[in-house]
Amino acid sequence: MKKKIQSKLLQWFEKNRRDLPWRKTQDPYAIWVSEIMLQQTQVATVLPYYQKFLKTFPTIRSLARAELSQVLKIWEGLGYYSRARNLHQAAKTILNRFGGKIPDNPESLLRLPGIGRYTAGAILSIAFNQETPILDGNVKRVLSRLFAISGAPQKTGKLLWKYSASLIPEGHARSFNQALMDLGAMVCTPKNPLCSKCPIRKICKAFRLGEPEEFPSLIVKKAIPRIEAIAAVIQKEGKVLLKQRPPKGLLGGLWEFPNWGLEGKKDLKRFLRFKIKNDFGLKVKCRELLGPFQQTYSHFRLTMNVFNCEAIGGGVKGRWKWVPIQDFDQYPMSRIFRRIAYATISSSTEV
Ligand code: ADE
Repeated sequence: MKKKIQSKLLQWFEKNRRDLPWRKTQDPYAIWVSEIMLQQTQVATVLPYYQKFLKTFPTIRSLARAELSQVLKIWEGLGYYSRARNLHQAAKTILNRFGGKIPDNPESLLRLPGIGRYTAGAILSIAFNQETPILDGNVKRVLSRLFAISGAPQKTGKLLWKYSASLIPEGHARSFNQALMDLGAMVCTPKNPLCSKCPIRKICKAFRLGEPEEFPSLIVKKAIPRIEAIAAVIQKEGKVLLKQRPPKGLLGGLWEFPNWGLEGKKDLKRFLRFKIKNDFGLKVKCRELLGPFQQTYSHFRLTMNVFNCEAIGGGVKGRWKWVPIQDFDQYPMSRIFRRIAYATISSSTEV
């Protein structure tokens, strides 16, 4: 049965493989970049970012030598920014410790920031054709159906990794692992799987049972909390106050407008004036609401009430910068603040 799964999947992959840019190269660096971008992100979203990233940083050396803010700027809009920081940090380590070559063994790879078991498996199999297993959402679904494995993911994970490892045909890890990915993305989809197009449906236990969608067991998603916040676009002589977040942690290294959690406060302008005075020693006049802006993150949904303000006195302390509006583009920002920046630009040019 194992031989049959292997030969059917490899044949199917030959004919149906997706034409993806990271499949046109065997450069471990380019493959590593693609795998980091594809963590938690759809292929279609990744495509333009991948091209731009490799054009800007064609080698490990060029990435290692770049400024973090340059890397974040290319990453802007892709989300999960710790991936960019880890990529940058890992490039430095690879340059200093491995002579600029991506290590080809799991121990060294797993010690690099941003590389877990899945990504190490993907790099080793795709770049080096080593027989190391992979298990992401797509592959989990394919294998859960193929072997009719149900139960909570915490319980089935170990078993699925075992299956993934045991199936790899000798000498064909590169194609086989990518065949599993493509089958999951194109045929063995979460809803309405195209079983009639599946090369291994005759062996698939879930297909035989008649309810392939029942596998894997559904995860009950917890409702995510809503968070209300307030932000200020503080203007002074055509410049606006921006702040850079500390390098580590959520959205680390990105620039943003001054903002605070609302903590249930009702008088927004008053709260804002107090916070700005308290945190920056700056006296401001709060004018109109630029608007509420919303953004959903993995663990919460954020509503940011943004006010246009004008500085009328006092100094500024801390890691802040007065930035001319026309220079906003040079500062990497997360999605919500980039939208606020655009709104600021268009409201300042309105007649
Ligand atoms: N998802 C994760 N890695 C991938 C790859 N190399 N090709 C397509 N989809 C993927």
